[in-house]
Amino acid sequence: MHRLDRDAGVPPEILREARAKVASADRILALTGAGISAESGIPTFRGAGGLWRDYRPEDLATPAAFARDPRLVWEWYEWRRGLVAAARPNPGHRALAEFSLRHPAFTTVTQNVDGFHTLAGSPDVIELHGSLWRTRCTRCGAEREERRHPLPELPPLCACGGLERPAIVWFGETLPPAAWDAAETAALSCDLILVIGTSSVVWPAASLVPLALEAGAAGIEVNPDGTPLSESLLVLRGRAGEVLPALLG
Ligand code: OAD
Repeated sequence: MHRLDRDAGVPPEILREARAKVASADRILALTGAGISAESGIPTFRGAGGLWRDYRPEDLATPAAFARDPRLVWEWYEWRRGLVAAARPNPGHRALAEFSLRHPAFTTVTQNVDGFHTLAGSPDVIELHGSLWRTRCTRCGAEREERRHPLPELPPLCACGGLERPAIVWFGETLPPAAWDAAETAALSCDLILVIGTSSVVWPAASLVPLALEAGAAGIEVNPDGTPLSESLLVLRGRAGEVLPALLG
């Protein structure tokens, strides 16, 4: 039986090994997913409370679902926007932000659309899947910031009269090329990848991990549950809001 560390719930020798990896890495990439925002009260996609009116994200976050029923898709995003608007970044976001400001070569890549890393103070966050706070016109392609919640009309309309959609990457769509290029470059050049709060089942985001490992990086996973990538990573089995302050503080 391991003696459990009081702060993080992680065996102290594993935490020590992980801290040593952090200390010896010149370039660090953090890849985050919905789990880092769970302690802010935002349900993860594949965990308890992630379903909305019995729909799975794969049923709503698609171009086909939007074409069929744009209002329904917007209602789902309005629910998520409301949860995020009422919540705050947690100690996990803050530990990452504080560490990344101290570290000369730290890149944060997130699959999250809640904006919490930036709100916590992380600089230059790469948002692979877009943002809840931006819309894109399905007719003219114009993007704009939209922070109002609730929205005055659903679905929102562009100045050109076209229907606006969330500026979020849906299943079957391509990631924003600039964000993907920057993430891939960071994965290929990092010495250490931190894989935090993601089920690592959605690609191409999850492919950044094998990319980094094959290029020679070490990897650490922060997650209370196992993932398909756990066996190739040093696993800190715990919650991001508890583990990250212990790992990076
Ligand atoms: P998932 O909901 O698939 O996975 C969340 C992960 O967080 C799981 O592995 C949990 O075990 C873990 N977790 C839960 N609580 C945690 C905590 N307190 N600390 C750390 N980890 C915790 O979310 P993602 O992997 O982000 O895409 O999902 C990937 C993408 O699929 C999302 O970006 C979204 C979704 O459909 C789009 O919206 C385009």
